[in-house]
Amino acid sequence: MAKKCSLLLLAFVLYLIHCQSTIAQLQNKISAIDLDALHQIKNTLIDIHAVSSPHFFSSWDFASGDPCSSFAGVTCSSSEQPRRVESLVLGTGLSGSPGFAGTLSPFIANLTELSQLVLFAGIVTGSIPSELGSLKKLRVISLTNNLLTGTIPASIFSLPDLHTLDLGHNQLSGTMPPTISASIQLKVLVLADNKISGQLPRGFPEKLLHLDFSQNNISGMLPARMSASLRYLSASQNRMWGPLNCLESTLELEYLDLSMNNFSGGLPTSLFQPKLTSMLLQRNNLSGGFPPLAPYPYGPGSIIDLSRNFLTGELTRVLVGVESLFLNNNQLKGTVPKEYFGSLSLGKTKTLYLQHNYITGFPTAAESSWPPWDLVAVCISYNCMEVPVVVGIMACPSGIGEQISRPAYQCSAFHNRNTTPKEKED
Ligand SMILES: *[C@@H]1O[C@H](CO)[C@@H](O)[C@H](O)[C@H]1NC(C)=O
Ligand SMILES: *[C@@H]1O[C@H](CO)[C@@H](O)[C@H](O)[C@H]1NC(C)=O
Ligand SMILES: *[C@@H]1O[C@H](CO)[C@@H](O)[C@H](O)[C@H]1NC(C)=O
Ligand SMILES: *[C@@H]1O[C@H](CO)[C@@H](O)[C@H](O)[C@H]1NC(C)=O
Repeated sequence: MAKKCSLLLLAFVLYLIHCQSTIAQLQNKISAIDLDALHQIKNTLIDIHAVSSPHFFSSWDFASGDPCSSFAGVTCSSSEQPRRVESLVLGTGLSGSPGFAGTLSPFIANLTELSQLVLFAGIVTGSIPSELGSLKKLRVISLTNNLLTGTIPASIFSLPDLHTLDLGHNQLSGTMPPTISASIQLKVLVLADNKISGQLPRGFPEKLLHLDFSQNNISGMLPARMSASLRYLSASQNRMWGPLNCLESTLELEYLDLSMNNFSGGLPTSLFQPKLTSMLLQRNNLSGGFPPLAPYPYGPGSIIDLSRNFLTGELTRVLVGVESLFLNNNQLKGTVPKEYFGSLSLGKTKTLYLQHNYITGFPTAAESSWPPWDLVAVCISYNCMEVPVVVGIMACPSGIGEQISRPAYQCSAFHNRNTTPKEKED
């Protein structure tokens, strides 16, 4: 009996909700300004739909449709009268969907309640309308993987609630606006793979978690202090130089990629901590040695690449247990701590590149505890020792004469000299 009653009650409630939403639909017309803006936005974009994928704008029927309930990618406020567009997602983001050509209409700036603007990958050209800087409610702007040109409008960084700005993989040029640091709510900033040049602003927002400006033409040094909350930093493939001291304040870092720049000086000790499980500093001008710290519990998936620098001294135990460890093409000497072989035997370390150094010893263990050589890559050729016969070098990057020792004269010259040589030897 009780069950039946509650079922009836539920049906009644659902009926009420249905009535209300029907009434709401009749009353809640979209604002005329927003309707016009949607029209203009559609007019400047060309849907380059393949035959196989659905045509994104096919649901945008201005003659009879209600944008708030039937237009793909349009989400409106429910409380306001008339209804306003709160979120605009242009494109499906489905893989294989070619996206749009055309340009972004400045009429977007008439959608003054917009909090999210997303344009999926395509070949949209032209500049980012600077009018976006007047949309005070914007939290998310994502315009990745298109052909947008021009500069990043500085006004964007005065938006009070801006949380995510992703402009990666376009053709943007100019410099990074110095106003970036004023964007106090900004958590995610992606400018990767553009043509941005000049130097970085003097600072980044304090709450920034994710910063990626890799593959640009940025020169100069990192700011004296990086945001302490930063978890992800990629500056790879720019033209930056200077020391890495500023990373002493970024203790939350989990991912660091500064590869292919000209950073110099030593490795800050703060980089050796178990949270930082991806450290990519290869192809820089780094020098100095490793801190004499005990190994951290680096886990599966950890990767540290310090290859092609000018690191000196003996390898310490600090990186034992890293799953993929690349230390090749440096100026390391001495004996590799036996724990590195132990970590291979335990299956923790799967890749160990030590080739092209001046190492004189690589202790292995009894055959019973050898690692499965077909599952690991250990490269130790071109050092100042005989390559131990046991080591599987099948997976090493091989060149002519790759599986040999370094010529003796190079070793004696290196070990007799106190100063480090200036050129890198390949
Ligand atoms: C809408 O945007 C256009 C283009 O930026 C502008 O000329 C026009 O004044 C705007 N209309 C309103 C009502 O804001
Ligand atoms: C890179 O930036 C420098 C100025 O720092 C400029 O002279 C050069 O033309 C830029 N290169 C490209 C490819 O944009
Ligand atoms: C590093 O500096 C050298 C010498 O100044 C220069 O030739 C080279 O292009 C620089 N490399 C990068 C990636 O900036
Ligand atoms: C590379 O580092 C050395 C110091 O180790 C420095 O003298 C040199 O100027 C640096 N080169 C570049 C291009 O930054």
